Amino acid sequence: MPDDSPGLTAFPPGPWGAAIDALAAPGHVVLPDVLPPACWLALRDEAVALQGEAAFRPARIGRAAGLQRETAVRGDELCWLAPDLPAGGRYLAWMDTLRETLNRELFLGLAEFEAQYAHYPVGAFYRTHVDRHRDSNARVISAVLYLNPDWPAAAGGEIVMYGADGADGAELFRQAPRGGTLVLFRSADMPHEVLPATAERWSIAGWFRTRD
Ligand code: OGA
Ligand code: MN
Repeated sequence: MPDDSPGLTAFPPGPWGAAIDALAAPGHVVLPDVLPPACWLALRDEAVALQGEAAFRPARIGRAAGLQRETAVRGDELCWLAPDLPAGGRYLAWMDTLRETLNRELFLGLAEFEAQYAHYPVGAFYRTHVDRHRDSNARVISAVLYLNPDWPAAAGGEIVMYGADGADGAELFRQAPRGGTLVLFRSADMPHEVLPATAERWSIAGWFRTRD
C-alpha cells in the first residue's frame, strides 16, 4: 500500500462478518454502502484518469492461447489495479483484509486478490458467463465494486445473477451498479450477465484466487 496521500480518506474496516455468513451459504451477497463515498469516488476518479491516459484495453474472452476479442460477448474495457496506484493500491490492501478473513473463517486457502477497473461505454454488455476459467480452478470468489454516483433507475446496466445450475435460468437477483455497492459471489458455479446501459458504467471486477 502506498504512503498516505493527502486527500485520500482511509478505508474503514469492511463488514466482513456478514460477507462470511452469506458466502458460506447461499454463496452470494450484495453489500450496499460498503465504503464511504470519498473512498469509491477516489477510485472512480483514478479510473477515469487512467482511461484518459489510454491505460485501458478492450476486454478479451478466455485466457492465454484461448484469448479472443469478442464484442458479441462483452464490450467493456479494462485496466489492472496495481499496488502503486494511490486509490487502487488501497483497495487491493482493503480486499486483502477480506481475503485473510475468508481464509480464517471458511478455510478457502486464498493466495491472492487480483482486480481490474472496468469501463462499459453506453450500450456495452457482458453476456451470461461464469468467472472461473475452463482450464484453471484458481478463481474462487468474485468481487465487483460499483463506482457510479447517482445511477438512474431507468439506466439499465444491472448485474443479473442466475441459479447455480444455470439450466433453469432462474434469476437469483439483479443489482444496479450504484456507487459503493459490493457484490460477492462464488466464481465457479454462478452464471451472471451485465445488461446494457444508457449511461457510462464504471466498476472494479476482482477475484480471490488459489495458487493455479
Ligand atoms: C466480470 C463481471 C459484473 C459487473 O467482469 O466478470 O461479471 O457487474 N462483471 O460488472
Ligand atoms: Mn463475471
